[in-house]
Amino acid sequence: MLNRRAGNGCKSIKAEMERKVRQSQALRGEVVPPGDKSISHRAAILNGIAFGTGRIDNFSPSADCLSTVSCLRALGVEIEDQGISLAVCGKAMGGLTEPYDVLDAGNSGTTMRLLAGLLSAQSFLSIITGDQSLRSRPMDRLIQPLRLMGADIWGREHGSRAPLVIKGGQLHGIRYQLPVASAQVKSAILLAGLFAQHDTTIEEPAFTRDHTERLLQAMGDKIEIEGRRITISPSSLSAIDLHIPGDLSSAAFWLVAGAIHPHAEIKIRDVGVNPKRSGIIDVLKAMGADIRVEGERVEGGEPIADISVRSSSLVGTHVAGELVPRLIDEIPVLAVAACVAEGTTVIRDAQELRVKEADRIATTVEELSKFGAEIEELPDGMVIHGEKRLRGAECHSHQDHRLAMALGVAALVAEGETVIQGAEAVNFSYPGFWRDLARLSK
Ligand code: S3P
Repeated sequence: MLNRRAGNGCKSIKAEMERKVRQSQALRGEVVPPGDKSISHRAAILNGIAFGTGRIDNFSPSADCLSTVSCLRALGVEIEDQGISLAVCGKAMGGLTEPYDVLDAGNSGTTMRLLAGLLSAQSFLSIITGDQSLRSRPMDRLIQPLRLMGADIWGREHGSRAPLVIKGGQLHGIRYQLPVASAQVKSAILLAGLFAQHDTTIEEPAFTRDHTERLLQAMGDKIEIEGRRITISPSSLSAIDLHIPGDLSSAAFWLVAGAIHPHAEIKIRDVGVNPKRSGIIDVLKAMGADIRVEGERVEGGEPIADISVRSSSLVGTHVAGELVPRLIDEIPVLAVAACVAEGTTVIRDAQELRVKEADRIATTVEELSKFGAEIEELPDGMVIHGEKRLRGAECHSHQDHRLAMALGVAALVAEGETVIQGAEAVNFSYPGFWRDLARLSK
């Protein structure tokens, strides 16, 4: 059902979808999550600047990855859409062309930040914007290192917000200590470093997802990795064919649903289990979840596996420090698990959640409280007192895809019926989410 809600102060009226979810009697079956969003963005961008044509299988159908595809097309990259596969005809280094219009990254931080790194090194002018949420997210963390490399890049609010205006040109390598653990910023600097004069060395404060590094290595780039320090030398790339693993961040909703529902048995097939992303598996197991990771194999340079989960009795846990970047996107759904676990769960060092698609600390606390959860907000996380019987609620996604899906999981175990407004937000990462939820619910 569609509702009409006026967008913040602007004249346009946004159509919102409402989704009703009833407590489920049982959860059973198999799911194949969509292709990994982070890897899909990178595979399209890197093949777009490589020599040759790369075929990408199981490309993420998310609106976010489609934003990357449309920006690349606007930069002159020919991309043939073959269902869930793409054929990207690389322009090689220096072959991108000036876009006729403003590039639109939609809701996707990865699109904006990675492309800003790449565009800083192209010899033309580009402007990149995004939706209201993306225009309010911090870009100074990106602009500062790119300016140190010699980039001419500006943003609103003294260079801290999009739209970004980039007059690309010759960059030079830098040595840079990243102040925040961000795979998007790291990847933007690596993309700029590919085109720079001399080497670029960056050091991360904590490990973050390394899909860019893995792909660059597979495509022939000279990249050296020593712990948290990465050095990239300017080089050209060769296109590669690859199969994108299923998205663990999408699978996480079924891992939590299967663990907290009293009558559940779910098998999730072909999921990426990159160790820099798999914090959710470690934490759920530490909470007592009956999760089995089977048939581990490597495809396209990334580890993948099948994962089974069954009804479990969970206990509360502590999440902080270097673990946080390994499960940053899974914290809203982890909070749902914590609501029903025995004891208290404390999540700290997760202040980055405040600058995601929505403020994920404030919105998770606000929305789960409506289900009767006992959950307190901290500046950098939350405290959740568990063993609560959740009650169906009227709640809102705040146009945040991960929150919408976390609320869907809460609804599966909450008494009665839940109504989720803004349910269409799932399309940013997992367009088939509501269909899979209905299929698994018995
Ligand atoms: C992503 C990195 C993370 C993550 C986001 C995807 C990526 O963001 O939260 O969903 O693909 O590089 P940050 O780099 O801002 O931590």
